[in-house]
Amino acid sequence: MNIDHPIQICNFDIVINTYLIMPIHKSVKRITTHVLNEMKLKGEKIAMLTAYDYSIAKILDEAEIDVILVGDSASNVMAGFDTTLPITLDNMIYHAASVVRAVKRALVVVDLPFGTYQGNSKEALASSIRIMKETGAHAVKLEGGLQVVESIERILSAGIPVMGHLGLTPQAIHKFGTYVVRAREEEEARRLMEDARLLEQTGCFAIVLEKIPARLAEEVTGSLKIPVIGIGAGGKTDGQVLVLHDMLGITQEFSPRFLRRYHNLYAEIKGAVQSYIADVRSQDFPNEKEQY
Ligand code: KIV
Repeated sequence: MNIDHPIQICNFDIVINTYLIMPIHKSVKRITTHVLNEMKLKGEKIAMLTAYDYSIAKILDEAEIDVILVGDSASNVMAGFDTTLPITLDNMIYHAASVVRAVKRALVVVDLPFGTYQGNSKEALASSIRIMKETGAHAVKLEGGLQVVESIERILSAGIPVMGHLGLTPQAIHKFGTYVVRAREEEEARRLMEDARLLEQTGCFAIVLEKIPARLAEEVTGSLKIPVIGIGAGGKTDGQVLVLHDMLGITQEFSPRFLRRYHNLYAEIKGAVQSYIADVRSQDFPNEKEQY
């Protein structure tokens, strides 16, 4: 549409209105932390998914996902560990660099893995600088509230945007002992609210809330200016995030109530592989047209 000469092609008011109602996330070339803030102000929901490799990240970006999280859930779904604890900074950098090579539009956020930022703010900064330099990602994410504030401050001092993560924080699984819903009790809910405010005051550009009661997530979302992205935190947060392998049905063993499966890729891939095996064994593949 040529907006320099709108009257020649159609009614001017309609052209102007079309531009006024265009959602922010559709009208931008690149999603930035600033764009996410504007989306919150306008009440536009933020869609975030995980990705860990080039080919999948390309699909997500072309589908116009707002944020790609290179999550340390790679430890589970890519490497097959039971928890997120074993994944290393080098592993995360490999995944993140592969994702960034595919992405033209989405904001790419990378998890700081366990043991690279807790209790040592200088190490937190060094880990974040490695991620930013060696991957080209746009921001880092880390888990926790008060106990990681010093690390967040130091990372921010280098101009690196930080996303917080409260509620169920999988890197602390051995402290919790279980993956059940967090902050059901008043005291824990009060501390979570305090931590969320602290993360905002410290300068985090957004926060993930994982597996907490929907009403608490709504309260936190309403009392913060920065975007709040939920996973298992109800529908009233500013956006949603899911682990891609879970929502596509590649993982089968993980079925929490909050997970909506959009596909059963496990069955589809298995079926395709079985067809291939059958074709090879029966010598149906390759046929005349599939050879030189
Ligand atoms: O690592 C991850 O995938 C995450 C999401 C669950 C938010 O942190």
